[in-house]
Amino acid sequence: MIVAVDGPAASGKGTLARRIAAHFQYAYLDTGKIYRAVGQSVLTAGRDPENLEAALQAARALDVKDLANPELSSDTAAVAASKVAALEPVRAALLGFQKEFAASPPEGMAGAVLDGRDIGTVICPDAHVKLFVTADVEERARRRHKELLDNGEASIYSRVLQALKDRDARDSNRSAAPLKAASDAIVIDTTAMNPDEAFATALGFIQKHTD
Ligand code: DC
Repeated sequence: MIVAVDGPAASGKGTLARRIAAHFQYAYLDTGKIYRAVGQSVLTAGRDPENLEAALQAARALDVKDLANPELSSDTAAVAASKVAALEPVRAALLGFQKEFAASPPEGMAGAVLDGRDIGTVICPDAHVKLFVTADVEERARRRHKELLDNGEASIYSRVLQALKDRDARDSNRSAAPLKAASDAIVIDTTAMNPDEAFATALGFIQKHTD
C-alpha cells in the first residue's frame, strides 16, 4: 500500500502524511529532507546549490544518516533544497532510493507514505492513494511565521510570505518534475482546516479507495 502526499511548502502535508503513517503503521519518508540534505551539504562545502557539479556530487554522496541533521529544518536549507531540486540529474540520482523505499518499506511494514512534490506524478505514479495538500499562500505564510515565533526565532511575516512565493514559483515552474497534482489525486485544501479536519478528510478518502 503506497500513499503519495504532495503539495507546496507549509501546506500541512508533512503533518498529515506522518499522521496517516502512524494510523496505519506504515513507513514514512519525508522526501523534502533528501533535497534539504543535498542542499545543506553543498552549502557546507561552500559551494553554490545551483552549480550542477557540486549538487550532483552531494546527491551521489548522500547518506541516510544525513537526514537526521537538525539544520535541515532551517529556511536556508529549504532554499538550497529548492535550487538543487530543479536540476534534473540531481533528481535522477535520488530517484532509486525513493522508489526502493516505497516498494520495500523498511522493517517489513505493510505500506509506505511518502510526501514531497512529485510522489504521485514521478516517484510512485501507481500509488494506491494520491493526495495533493494545499492552502492559500497567505495562510501558509501565517503558519510558518507562527511556527518560527513559537520556536523563539525572529520572523517578519512579509518576508516569510515572499520566501514562500519564491519557493512555490521555483518548485512549480521548473521543467524537472514540477510541483503539480497528479490527474488522479484528491485535492485537500487545508486553508480553513485544522490538522484534525485535514486528517479526517484524508482518512475518509483513503477508506473509500481501499475498501
Ligand atoms: O517539503 P520541503 O519544504 O521540505 O521541500 C524542500 C524543497 O525540496 C522544496 O522546495 C522542493 C524540493 N522537493 C522536491 O523538489 N521534490 C520533492 N519530492 C520534495 C522536495
